[in-house]
Formats: sequence, C-alpha cells, structure tokens
Amino acid sequence: MSEEVFFNELFDQWAEDYDEAVAGGNEEYREVFEGYPRILQAVADSLALPKGSVVMEFGVGTGNLTSLLLKSGYRVIGIEPSAAMREKAKAKLPDLKLYDGHFMHVPDGLPSVDAIVSTFAFHHLKDEMKDRALQDLARRLNPGGKIVFADTVFRDEQTKLAMQQEAEERGYHELASDLKREFYTTVGRLEQAFQQAGFTVRFKQLNRFVWLIVAEQNQKN
Ligand SMILES: C[S@@+](CC[C@H](N)C(=O)[O-])C[C@H]1O[C@@H](n2cnc3c(N)ncnc32)[C@H](O)[C@@H]1O
Repeated sequence: MSEEVFFNELFDQWAEDYDEAVAGGNEEYREVFEGYPRILQAVADSLALPKGSVVMEFGVGTGNLTSLLLKSGYRVIGIEPSAAMREKAKAKLPDLKLYDGHFMHVPDGLPSVDAIVSTFAFHHLKDEMKDRALQDLARRLNPGGKIVFADTVFRDEQTKLAMQQEAEERGYHELASDLKREFYTTVGRLEQAFQQAGFTVRFKQLNRFVWLIVAEQNQKN
C-alpha cells in the first residue's frame, strides 16, 4: 500500500470489532458514533438520485453504508484499502464490486460516476491531500455530480482543542490520541477545499463530532 495510506494496519486490526464499536460497544467512541444508522441514512438520502445511478464509495469498511445504498437502488463501486475490512464487507455483500484502493489511488479502468460518498474516512488524509483528492474526484463525476460525506469535523480550531482536552479529562486516552494523530479538520478549511475543486457545499452537524457534507458540482459554462 502506498505511503498515502496511513492507518491500514489499525483498520486491519479493528475490522473484527468495528460493527460492535459503531453500535456503541466502545465507550470512548460512543459519542463519535452516536446515531450511526441515522448518519448513514442521511448520506444515502442526500444523494436523491434516480435508481440505477452509479455511486463510488470510499472507505467502505464493513459495508454498512454500502448496504443502504444498494437498498436505495444505486449501483455501487466500493473502494477500501484494508484487506480485513474488504473481507468483512464481502461476507455481508458477496456481489459488491469492491476494489483495493483509496482516496489518492483509484484503480484504473473504473467508469465515471454520478456521485461519490464516504463516511468516517476523509479525515485520514492530511489537508493538502484532501485538496488534491477532491480535485481528482471532481474529474470522476458525470456532469451535475455530487459528493456526500459524513465525517468528524470541528467547527473551528478552538473547538477541536477543547474536544481533545475533554477526551483527556474523561480518561479516553485512545480517543484523545486519535483526535491528535489523525487529520481532523475544520468546517472552514473543508469548505475552502470543496469550493476550490468546483463545488457548492453545505454542512450540517449530526452529532457532537460528525457533520454531513453535501457538495454539488458547479455547472461549467
Ligand atoms: C472508521 S472506518 C469507516 C467505515 C465505514 N465507512 C463506516 O462508515 O462504518 C474508516 C474506513 O476508511 C478506510 N480508509 C482509511 N484510509 C483511507 C483512505 N485514505 N482512503 C479510503 N479509505 C480509507 C479504512 O480502512 C476504514 O475501512
């Protein structure tokens, strides 16, 4: 795996317990995953595309958002860098088209798509990588395409520091070091990245950590 994927080993290890954590089984991450089914549903609903539309999903994990997308009648192309996560997703969804890849490396030969989605994954890219990824993803969309993400984002740097401190004070050491180690960004920084890649973007907070991000590609004249 390329040097642009930072946490692959961690996700290979987490694959076994991941569905338990998103259901509230890991106390430190309970607030991060609070309302997990509602968050995934908000992403699927925000697409509002005709049945049969082609959706590319990054960071498929164990396939939970993927299941909703398939139920909504979309054709899904899944991209996931962790082999253990791919195995979990394949066990749930044997017919899924699932590829080894990541935001900075999409396998060759895939078609352009009507929308791109991802949940709890975009923060694995450093901010300048997010910029480059969005420029690339924009080129993979059919005209009028959308990107819909849900991810941990902070209102501003001050809020991010306060949430890190709160995790430490609660004794949530795993969460506190995650909040420092991974590349969680701010609403303003993400808004700038989407705008520079040619999107009009809106944000809605879904729990204390997670925001829904709906970006529509600007029409070219
Ligand atoms: C927290 S899990 C989220 C899984 C699933 N999307 C969900 O909502 O439950 C993050 C997933 O993103 C994947 N991931 C990590 N870095 C990535 C990258 N650079 N590009 C795409 N996926 C990545 C991980 O392997 C993992 O499966």
